[in-house]
Amino acid sequence: MTITESINNLNPAPPRVAGLPVLGNALDFLNRPMEFFVESYHKYGPIFRIQVLNQKFVILGGLEANRFLAKAPDEMFSSKPLFGGFAEEMNAPSSIVALDGEQHRHMRKVMQRGYSKSGLSPHLNNMAQITYQTAHAWKPGEIIFARDAFQRLVTEQLGTALANHSASEYFESIRYYLGTLLAVLVMKTQPRIILSMPRFKNARQKVMEFAQIVLEEHRQPGSEHDPDLVDDLLAAVDWNGDPFKENDLLAATIGPFFAGMDTVANTMGFMMYALLKHPEVYNAIEKEVDEHFADGIPSYQELPKLQTLYAATIETLRRYPVAGFSPRGAMQSFDFAGHHVNAGENVIFVNGLTHFLPEYFPDPWNFDIQRYIPPRREHKQGQGVFAPYTLGSHTCLGAGIAEVQLMVSVGALIRAARLELERPGYELKVRQMPIPGPDFNFKLRVTELRNM
Ligand code: HEM
Repeated sequence: MTITESINNLNPAPPRVAGLPVLGNALDFLNRPMEFFVESYHKYGPIFRIQVLNQKFVILGGLEANRFLAKAPDEMFSSKPLFGGFAEEMNAPSSIVALDGEQHRHMRKVMQRGYSKSGLSPHLNNMAQITYQTAHAWKPGEIIFARDAFQRLVTEQLGTALANHSASEYFESIRYYLGTLLAVLVMKTQPRIILSMPRFKNARQKVMEFAQIVLEEHRQPGSEHDPDLVDDLLAAVDWNGDPFKENDLLAATIGPFFAGMDTVANTMGFMMYALLKHPEVYNAIEKEVDEHFADGIPSYQELPKLQTLYAATIETLRRYPVAGFSPRGAMQSFDFAGHHVNAGENVIFVNGLTHFLPEYFPDPWNFDIQRYIPPRREHKQGQGVFAPYTLGSHTCLGAGIAEVQLMVSVGALIRAARLELERPGYELKVRQMPIPGPDFNFKLRVTELRNM
C-alpha cells in the first residue's frame, strides 16, 4: 500500500461502511468503536467512511495511517473542530489542545518541562504516599467502586505534582465540569443546554476558584515549592511576546486534570482488572514492589527496570487504549491509499487500531505481558505500531507522566492492599464515557491491608 503524495481528485471517495437507515453506524460507533473499526479495516481497508446520525466521518487506521498522521504537515489537519469549543467556553484562545501550527508549537515548548517525567521526579514519593493513604482508609472486606476511587486518587496526585496544591476539596466540581465539557463540546453526545444549567455553572465557578487560588499561590514572592507547570506558565509569554491572559492561565492550570484525570484513572481501572484476571502477573508485581518500593519509590529512570510492572503497564496501554482515536478536521484535500478526501471533511485517525492487528501483536485481544519481554519487544517495532498517545503534532505531552504515574499508583496500591474482583467470574464491561473506561459498576473487594 502506498500513500499518494500528490492530490488526485479523480481518486474515488473512501468506501462507505454499510449501516442502518437514519442511525447509520451510530450503534457500533458509540458502543464498540474499536471492535467496529478493526472489523471495518479488515473488510474495507485502511480508509473508509461512516455515518453517525447526521455526522459523517472519514476513518483512517493501520500502520500507514499512523505514519501518515505522524508526518502530516501542521496545516493539513486541525484539532480545532474537536477542542475549539472547549477553548471558547473557557475564553482561552491559548488552549494547547485547540491550537495548530506555530502557536501550538509555542505552547508545547512552554509546557514541555512542567509535563515531563523529570518535572514529576520530585513528586514520586508523594504520589505513592497519596496512594498508600487512599488504600489505608479502606477496611478489609470493603467494596470499592474502582472508577470513582481511581479518579479521586489520580486527581489528587495531579494537583499535588503539577500545581503543588491538593484538589480533593474541588474533586466533584472538576469531574463534573470537565466531563460535561467533553460530552457536550468535544464528543457532542449531550445537548448544549446543559452548559446553562445551575449544576454546570456552579461546578465551573468552583473549578475557576480552584485555579485562581493555585495561580495566586504561585504568584506569592518566596513561595517555596519545586518549580512546576504553573510557575513555567507564569514566567512565559504567548506567541506575541505578551504575558498570558488570565483566562489562558486558568485554563492551563486545570489542563492536567482535563488531560490526565480520565485517561490515567480509566487505564488504572483496566490495569487492575487485567492483573486480577492474571494472578501470576499480580503476584509477580507484588513481589517486585515489596522489594523495590520499601525504601521509597525508585527514580523514573529505574522504574521500567521493574520488568513485570512495566510490561503490565505497557500491555494495558495497548490492550485498553483509552485515547485510541484522534479526531481532526481536514484543512486540505488529501489522498490516502488510493482514495480522495476533501478539505472540510471530519477525519478520525484510529491510532490504536494497530494494537489489534495480529501481524504486530499476535492474538491481539489477549492480555499478555510477555510481548514486551526480550526477545519479543513488540512495542519496539518502529514508529506507529504501538501508539496509545497518538502521533504527529498533538502527541500526548504527558506520556512520560502517564506511564510513571500508572506504575507508581498501581505498584503502591498493590503494596498497600490485597484486592480481588467483587465476583470471581466478573467480566469487565467497557463504557464509553466519553473515552473508554471500566463500567461504573466495576468493583473491587479489599481483602487485606498491607505495607505502607
Ligand atoms: C494513559 C494516560 C494517557 C493517554 C493514553 C493519553 C493520550 C493522549 C492523546 C492520544 C492525546 C492527543 C489527543 C488528540 O489530539 O486527539 C493527548 C494529548 C495530551 N495529553 Fe495525554 N494521555 C494520557 C495522560 C496524560 C497525562 C497524565 C497528562 C498530563 C498530566 C497528559 C497531557 C496531555 C496534553 C497536555 C495533551 C495535549 C497535547 C497537544 O495538544 O499538543 N496526558 N494525550
